[in-house]
Amino acid sequence: MTSSFPQSRLRRLRESTMLRVMTRETSLSVKDFVYPLFVAHGKDVREPVEPMPGVFHLSLDRLAEEVTEVSQLGISAVLLFGLPDHKDARGTEAYAYDGIIQEAVRVIKQAAPDLLVITDVCLCEYTDHGHCGVIVQGRVDNDETLELLARVAVSHVEAGADVVAPSAMMDGQVGAIRYALDDGGYPLVPIMAYSAKYASAFYGPFRAAADSNPQFGDRRGYQMDPANAREAIREMEMDIQEGADMIMVKPALAYLDVIVRARQAFSHPIAAYNVSGEYSMVKGAAANGWLEAHGAIMEVMTALKRAGADIIITYHAKEVARWLNAEQ
Ligand code: PBG
Repeated sequence: MTSSFPQSRLRRLRESTMLRVMTRETSLSVKDFVYPLFVAHGKDVREPVEPMPGVFHLSLDRLAEEVTEVSQLGISAVLLFGLPDHKDARGTEAYAYDGIIQEAVRVIKQAAPDLLVITDVCLCEYTDHGHCGVIVQGRVDNDETLELLARVAVSHVEAGADVVAPSAMMDGQVGAIRYALDDGGYPLVPIMAYSAKYASAFYGPFRAAADSNPQFGDRRGYQMDPANAREAIREMEMDIQEGADMIMVKPALAYLDVIVRARQAFSHPIAAYNVSGEYSMVKGAAANGWLEAHGAIMEVMTALKRAGADIIITYHAKEVARWLNAEQ
């Protein structure tokens, strides 16, 4: 039972920095963080992504310096997105031996062998129609897409990826990838499943960055309805049954309740994806002098951890790592 005032004064433990630090419930570590990267063809490309200040398209020859920095900061992993040269109906470059991601993985494994390389497994950046799967009779066909996603995942792992992260929101994608990896001789490569991925307006800046806007319709036929939380648990249950090793909630900030529910329901590591629009909101407001970036960003990161996330995927990872390292 909590005693009441004046026996109890909650302010006592807030009196000094040392007391606050000692009794703090949540802490952040640089090891919690995953940094997303956009990799492009071409030479000497370091092109700013306009709505995401501090984020760039990088060509393969500029990748080594970037991942060396990320690794030196102590960040655990990078998550790779690719900008292909060529788009077509079946997203062929997504599973090509010399596709942009496959090449990027090889470069990173050379330059920063200690950094975990996680690859996003999806088709939307590679299809000319911009959808995450194959189109059959005007609709994204679930079962036709599974085989392609499995090929994408295996091609990433053959190039050296440490973890694959399927994000297409096709039913059965985790199972199809698990089967293909096992069959291909990779039973120990884990899957980080984008399990509860919502059809969100917060992906807007990413789609500009990755040039992956659907050319017709939208993604509501496969991504989740933002109104649903119980359904997120069903998504996670299914992914876990299909062999997911880690589960993800995405976006993060508008879905803290889903992170809490996931933490209560499962023992698996949970990743929260602090997406492009969440990044742009903070950066945009800070650039206008409307809020103080350091405080706002650390508060967001702490909230994701407090809600129950073990892993935080964020474009803020490098600045957060610098701040955390400076506190040491
Ligand atoms: C690909 C994918 C998307 C994001 C990650 N993987 C875009 C989408 O589903 O439209 C969004 C990431 C972000 O907004 O930061 N399917």
